[in-house]
Amino acid sequence: MKKTILFSAFLAVFGISSAQNTAHIPQLGKDKIDDVIAAMTLEEKVYLLMGLGENNWLNPPTGEKTVIIAGEAGLTWAIPRLGITPSVLTDGPAGLRIESHPEGLNFTRYCTAFPTATALASTWNPEMVETVGKAMGNEVLEYGSDVLLAPAINIHRNPLCGRNFEYYSEDPFVVGKLASAMVRGLQSNGVGTSLKHFVANNIETNRNSINEVISQRALREIYLRGFEMVVKEAQPWTVMSSYNRVNGFYTSENYDLLTTILRDEWKFKGMVMSDWWGGKDAVAQMKAGNDLLMPGCTQREELLTALKNKIIDIKVIDRNLKRILTFILKTPRFKGYAYSNKPDLKAHALVSHNAATEGMVLLKNDKNTLPFNNVKRVALFGKTSYRFIAGGTGSGEVNYESASTINESFESNGYKVAKPLEAIYKQFIDTITQKAKPENRKFVVDFHAELPLSKEQIDSQVKNADIGIITIGRNAGEGSDRSVADFSLTDTEKQLIREVSEAFHAANKKVVVVLNIGGVIATSDWRDYPDAILLAWQTGQEGANAIVDILKGKVNPSGKLPMSFPMSYSDVPSAKTFPGEPADNPINAVYNEGIYVGYRYYETFKIPTAYEFGYGLSYTQFEYSNIRLSSKEFNNELTIMVTVKNTGKKEGKETVELYLHAPNTEIEKPVQELKGFAKTKLLKPGESQELSFTLDARSLASFWTNVSSWVAEKGHYEVRIGASSKDIRLTAGFTLPQTMVVEKVHDVLYPNRPVTDLTPSTK
Ligand code: BGC
Repeated sequence: MKKTILFSAFLAVFGISSAQNTAHIPQLGKDKIDDVIAAMTLEEKVYLLMGLGENNWLNPPTGEKTVIIAGEAGLTWAIPRLGITPSVLTDGPAGLRIESHPEGLNFTRYCTAFPTATALASTWNPEMVETVGKAMGNEVLEYGSDVLLAPAINIHRNPLCGRNFEYYSEDPFVVGKLASAMVRGLQSNGVGTSLKHFVANNIETNRNSINEVISQRALREIYLRGFEMVVKEAQPWTVMSSYNRVNGFYTSENYDLLTTILRDEWKFKGMVMSDWWGGKDAVAQMKAGNDLLMPGCTQREELLTALKNKIIDIKVIDRNLKRILTFILKTPRFKGYAYSNKPDLKAHALVSHNAATEGMVLLKNDKNTLPFNNVKRVALFGKTSYRFIAGGTGSGEVNYESASTINESFESNGYKVAKPLEAIYKQFIDTITQKAKPENRKFVVDFHAELPLSKEQIDSQVKNADIGIITIGRNAGEGSDRSVADFSLTDTEKQLIREVSEAFHAANKKVVVVLNIGGVIATSDWRDYPDAILLAWQTGQEGANAIVDILKGKVNPSGKLPMSFPMSYSDVPSAKTFPGEPADNPINAVYNEGIYVGYRYYETFKIPTAYEFGYGLSYTQFEYSNIRLSSKEFNNELTIMVTVKNTGKKEGKETVELYLHAPNTEIEKPVQELKGFAKTKLLKPGESQELSFTLDARSLASFWTNVSSWVAEKGHYEVRIGASSKDIRLTAGFTLPQTMVVEKVHDVLYPNRPVTDLTPSTK
């Protein structure tokens, strides 16, 4: 009796009449989605438009706490009477982020820490990235999640952005090709992705309010382009709108962005969710096409009132619900997938290891210092030689079981590690770890200043080691940006590099610097001291093993830079405007460098860089020859073939880059832009491979703001085939006889404040 009264009260809360109760109740998956939506009460509709809230997941109307997988980032609401299952959304870009041993679980649930996105981008190898995506997605599936909140693909506009390690590149073509591969790999498991953060989340300072003022051309060519490529090439299940405002509007409240561009122009078929607490006005978000509000809960009243007062049309809500339900229908949880909690972590560690070695970039290698020659004993300097930084902080973190450190990896590879030096660093690490609050222990070493060593401490290492290795580490994460001081090396670090180099060189021994970093740092004021520099990035749990593989020559490095390393921070085109104005608490950030981001700027304005975009050394040499074009005149498509031969003594892989120099009589353009790249297989000494590249009409086009169109200008185009953006090895030309409007798009997203883009003629 009591139960019946309670049940009737429950039905009353939802406005469900007993007549409805006896009729057929539509079920998701069995009946039409429109019928399921029609059977929902207003409250059910509103609840389904948002997640269950943060930390203390509240399951309306009972208020009971719901956690499906401890550590999940969010849940969507379930409506069992309509057959609607919940879905689990989990971070993030370097692997699945869930709790490994939550209370009540009698087994551990570790995930694989894969190399961060910047390191993956440095592989320039879509196949490799797709393999990583497959392995990552298998953990998403087997641990019972439905969506990985990844990949994150914002442009590296400025080296200080705190989230650059989660992002791929300064170039939208690299982003587009590699993140498409990631989405394909992840989604091949039948789980979803969330392409984030749409769009221009290039600044973490005041990320929930900052207004980015960006010209339509820079938006189209630089900031939207990577998203456009991934949406068109890989159809991610979901897109996550960003926190920031662009040209006056929160991205999650902007119809032109989420509907006109994303859906009408690019034909996106999935669901859009907000970033966690992103945006301010739930009604505007609904209208814009931000279907799902995450983590949700708090906007229920606002939307119910808006609906009851007809501030928002129910048709808008139903449209968004349809997208949410279409998404739920695809999820493993809806399909009843019985997950194992036992992904093959050993196999995934191997995938992570291979990607880590391929993502490392050899920046300097004087007199063939590397690979090691007669090295048996190593002296390891720098705190991160003993505590490898596998990845960044925040939602991009992964709870992995263990990551070897560089000293351990050397030992397991049979090297002798200088023990007195190890003892000094271990004691330093123990002391700072003990002193830190328990909640800060995980990252205290990464963020702590380097240990200063005396000259005697350094000198005494030389006789017991065949080589000196210095690791420099940096970490960062969402919510704040890095400082110029963090970009620069500290005096202690520079002194360490100088004094170790001097001491070892005096004994005719070599020195290698290993960079265990997530974003670009200064190199020009210390790089002359060591003999070799290996940019190891934050390469996941296997990163330290991968470093040893490369140093000893088991693997020939083949990574190349997906961004430029400037000579100094002040050379960065956005240095004066980052993070925004006023500098201490920015409200607006004016992107007045326009399209001149990264190499587009350095090369067009002839600003020297320390290491240019696309740069990376190998232990062998490659010869490029025999450039062939399918035609001398462009007609819809053009194919370019080149031959690459390994002319050195070691087997290796080579990434070949295709830049296009376009005519610029009508509008100004960067002196060249990347329009293709291809990586060889592992070539044996003497072996050759043909690589082919295809240019379509969009590859020739720039965005002409005055006509809101992608236009390819008539004239002579030069194809430049290079080993980096500066090291161009082959060129060939073709013509476009008539100017072509390749695609007309909507005249939307104009700046709400003046922005005068930099151009070569206004410099
Ligand atoms: C981040 C997102 C992340 C979300 C859920 C936000 O703070 O910006 O990238 O997916 O949290 O954890």
